[in-house]
Amino acid sequence: MSKIISLSLSPNTQRDDISLAFNIIFSPLKWKEGKEIKELENTFKNKFSFKNAFSFNSGRSSLIAILNSMKISRGDEIIVQAFTCNAAVNPIISVGAKPVFVDINDALNIDSKKIKEKITAKTKAVMIQHTFGYPAQIDEIKKICEDNNIYLIEDCAHALGAKYKDRYCGSFGDASFFSFGRDKVISSVYGGMVVVNNDKLTYEVIAFKEKIEQPSSLWILQQLLHPVLMNMFVLPLYGSIIGKALLAGFLNLSILSKAVTKQENVGVLPNYFPKRMPNGLATLALNQIKKIDIMNGHREEIAELYRQSLERNDRFKIVFKKDDNIKPVFLKFPVLVYDQKRAIERMRENNIYLNDGWMESVVAPPKTSLDKVCYFVGSCPRAEKIVKAIVSLPTHVNISRYDAEKIIKCLIG
Ligand SMILES: Cc1ncc(COP(=O)(O)O)c(C=O)c1O
Repeated sequence: MSKIISLSLSPNTQRDDISLAFNIIFSPLKWKEGKEIKELENTFKNKFSFKNAFSFNSGRSSLIAILNSMKISRGDEIIVQAFTCNAAVNPIISVGAKPVFVDINDALNIDSKKIKEKITAKTKAVMIQHTFGYPAQIDEIKKICEDNNIYLIEDCAHALGAKYKDRYCGSFGDASFFSFGRDKVISSVYGGMVVVNNDKLTYEVIAFKEKIEQPSSLWILQQLLHPVLMNMFVLPLYGSIIGKALLAGFLNLSILSKAVTKQENVGVLPNYFPKRMPNGLATLALNQIKKIDIMNGHREEIAELYRQSLERNDRFKIVFKKDDNIKPVFLKFPVLVYDQKRAIERMRENNIYLNDGWMESVVAPPKTSLDKVCYFVGSCPRAEKIVKAIVSLPTHVNISRYDAEKIIKCLIG
């Protein structure tokens, strides 16, 4: 059976991550509390020269902590971008506030020129996304926030290691958050981090973190099983019906966790958010963060291969332009194609799985009920057009140059 090439399906895991997860499964006393939590926070803070770092069990929990620190609640509005995911929006809804969507620019980030018209007396913050690791128009947006006395939140879920004007994303907002989800820059299946740059909010984030609990042992076990079961059983067989059935079975029996649950598609967060970062997952994240320079260097190399192979072909539009002020991390390499459905289908026939859910709908995954997340159809036409043309190519550490060349060949046809 030929090797599976996939954009998502927990792509960052290497052999050392799998054996680490396997070993932690047999040390249940280290699942919840342990020294690795602090070690992860310190490594994270020092590696990127951040002021501080507070860990949580996900980006979703991290965002809830930020919203609480800003006292955002019922009746408040937060400006967000279209072309996002319900995991970025539901935390806002969970505290009673309303996400207000703004259309995107050519780089799939919030269009700074369209923000002002959405600011009202109820607006408390603008959240920028750095989509797929390409930094947003930070200077322009920071100025809008300062002029209107509203907070700037950086959603760095895709952007760990990305730089804007030689400074790491995450160091510009009043508060920022990161994700160590299964298909992010680094992964501990679930995990997240908050960085606070506005001193007035720091104590509130600490107090919030102390108030919440660790997730249950069963939940932690579910995440620890993920790298092991995915890599030992699911992925080797995924090219056949057996692998797909195995994954469906593991998910349906809750042996493995879903990245996004059904209830989140209608705007409701599960009860394992907000929670603290468990030590078992912090240990996995720590192992990954030690490899981040190699992993991001690899992403850059593969992205450059895609760029050189596709940029002179007028059937493809490359989304991320080169810019001296910007150092992206290329979580993915998006291109716009004429026939998205056909491209995805042709790839699938060749055992290349590129549907990551960030297509068809302006709020991923496509099953998200747009009215439940306060998106009005027609309000962000550019994002609505892009989701019908985008195909994102994988750059992660398990994609070899040979794999990337196979993808290119298959895409060009
Ligand atoms: C843009 C964006 N923001 C926030 C999140 C939430 O992160 P997490 O999955 O760690 O809760 C995600 C991922 O799901 C995301 O893609």
